[in-house]
Amino acid sequence: QKTIRAALLGFGTVGGGVYKLLVRRKDELADKTGASMEIGAVLVHNIHKKREGVDPALLTDDFEKIVNDPSIAIVIEVMGGIEPARTMILRALQFGKNVVTANKDLIAVHGGELLAAAKENGVDLLFEAAVAGGIPIIRPLKQCLAGNELSDVVGIVNGTTNYILTKMFEENKDFDEALERAKELGYAEADPTADIEGLDAGRKVAILASTAFHSPVVFDDVYTEGITKISSSDIKYAKEFECVIKLLGIARERRGQMEAYVCPMLLPEDHPLATVRGSFNAVFVHGDAVDDVMFYGRGAGEFPTASAVVGDVIDVMRNMEYGCMGRIGCGCYRSVPVKKFRD
Ligand code: NDP
Ligand code: HSE
Repeated sequence: QKTIRAALLGFGTVGGGVYKLLVRRKDELADKTGASMEIGAVLVHNIHKKREGVDPALLTDDFEKIVNDPSIAIVIEVMGGIEPARTMILRALQFGKNVVTANKDLIAVHGGELLAAAKENGVDLLFEAAVAGGIPIIRPLKQCLAGNELSDVVGIVNGTTNYILTKMFEENKDFDEALERAKELGYAEADPTADIEGLDAGRKVAILASTAFHSPVVFDDVYTEGITKISSSDIKYAKEFECVIKLLGIARERRGQMEAYVCPMLLPEDHPLATVRGSFNAVFVHGDAVDDVMFYGRGAGEFPTASAVVGDVIDVMRNMEYGCMGRIGCGCYRSVPVKKFRD
């Protein structure tokens, strides 16, 4: 069986999860893709930091070694930030390597440039994990719902702010206390300004809008307002109107004009998005043929995010092996016996 080699750029929360999942699912991955996966290198910032669960021989701080290694076919970028991630991804694509990334900051600003580079070099660039962590949403918008004229994509796409608002509504916690807890639980970014000011959600809305409406929308096009001005009296009045307050990311197309914004909004308590509590995310989509659909799940965290990244890696491997991306029936089947309930 053929072996496909990949390099991880980053071994933090997401990188660690991806590594563990690829090791744990090694056999299934081979069944599903017809090839076995081997991690050939792991790029980190601090090579001397003590790390659990990774072969130290794989660790490097030398990206050139990775990009110049012809045996590395897939680069998995999970380090974050704009630079050096952008330059590294561009170089990997130019060297004919497929790229999978979870980097919402980068895709929301330079997605168009990177996708063009992937196309030019005949390789894949996939970023399912960049929006709403473990929730499948990029692929459904791009593929499963492609037969629709989509008009609305409305989401709770930031777990930190949804957690804070839930705590303020349900437990009368104050903002700072809820934010501290969100940090402890690992939902918030290192600098939580991006969460609470709506910037993180704005980046995700830019990616959602570009994907849903097949049109280049960048972070700068998205109006953003966060939750820092929500007070306990806002919560009290919302309750009086049988509403909740949610930080919504909205992308809509009406009569050939698109709007994309993030702001706190009142939602009736019985609206499907009103029931999304804690750090969970959800994305509600309306298409002319399908009507309403909603995607719900964990928008962050080690394994939920790794789930999306590894799904992309599997698609790249299938594409390399069978020239098909994610289509059922193109990989190998296992023969698990089916239990017969009726004779
Ligand atoms: P972490 O901060 O936990 O990990 C970042 C990793 O990248 C670290 O291993 C760090 O090395 C390495 N790194 C950073 N800069 C460099 C550099 N210049 N050269 C080499 N290595 C570098 O980040 P996360 O795992 O939380 O996030 C990774 C990406 O996934 C980000 O783009 C983030 O937005 C995205 N994402 C994260 C989610 C989450 O729940 N955490 C959810 C969805 C997307 P070292 O260990 O030496 O410091
Ligand atoms: N800080 C982000 C959130 C992490 O709270 O949703 C996932 O993108």
